[in-house]
Amino acid sequence: MSTGLFLSLEGIDGAGKSSHIDALEALFRAQGRAVTRTREPGGTPLGETLRTLVLNEPMDTLSESLLVFAARREHVLQVILPALKRGDVVLCDRFTDATFAYQGAGRGFELGVLAMLERWVQADPAHADGLLQPGLTLWFDLPPEIAAERLAGARLPDKFEAQPVEFFRRVAQGYADRAAGASRFARIDADCSREQVWQQIESTLQARGLA
Ligand code: TYD
Repeated sequence: MSTGLFLSLEGIDGAGKSSHIDALEALFRAQGRAVTRTREPGGTPLGETLRTLVLNEPMDTLSESLLVFAARREHVLQVILPALKRGDVVLCDRFTDATFAYQGAGRGFELGVLAMLERWVQADPAHADGLLQPGLTLWFDLPPEIAAERLAGARLPDKFEAQPVEFFRRVAQGYADRAAGASRFARIDADCSREQVWQQIESTLQARGLA
């Protein structure tokens, strides 16, 4: 078992997860830990190229799923597993839960196929059940209507951000389904001030002996 900590951040677009990554990095660095910050889709040169395609080009949902998992495979092998082996904290802005939420629940793609791809892409004998998963997933939960208000006018929307609120209702439900019964998930109520969100993150880390 690796000694590092794999922490992912998830939520619908506009939920505000990215605005806490700096503070998370600072918190772990203050503990004297090395931090690898990364994101999905992306995290490697090939992964970032695939990200540009996935976020901008219209495509069939199986193609989209294969591209995010291809990016993930490179990311897992080149970045995440080596960092965990070194003992780093890996802070990952989105991981496979996003595929289940966006391609699965949002686009209606077969969850069984995604689960099979997950098995192949995240196979790792050093992890429980032979499957690499985050040790902790901070799930920023926000009603889709409020997320849409926050996003409105913020910047030019990408392919996903341009989706109607009904799409994000399905994505939000996808996260809720994925979180149900999975102890690695910590639900953060993102419908409050930035300071209150950070307090919830801190208490989650404390409760899990990470801060
Ligand atoms: P996001 O992480 O929100 O980055 P930024 O804040 O820079 O826009 O954007 C990534 C988008 O990709 C987001 O809309 C969700 C989508 N996505 C998928 O559809 N499937 C996936 O597997 C992943 C990782 C992301």
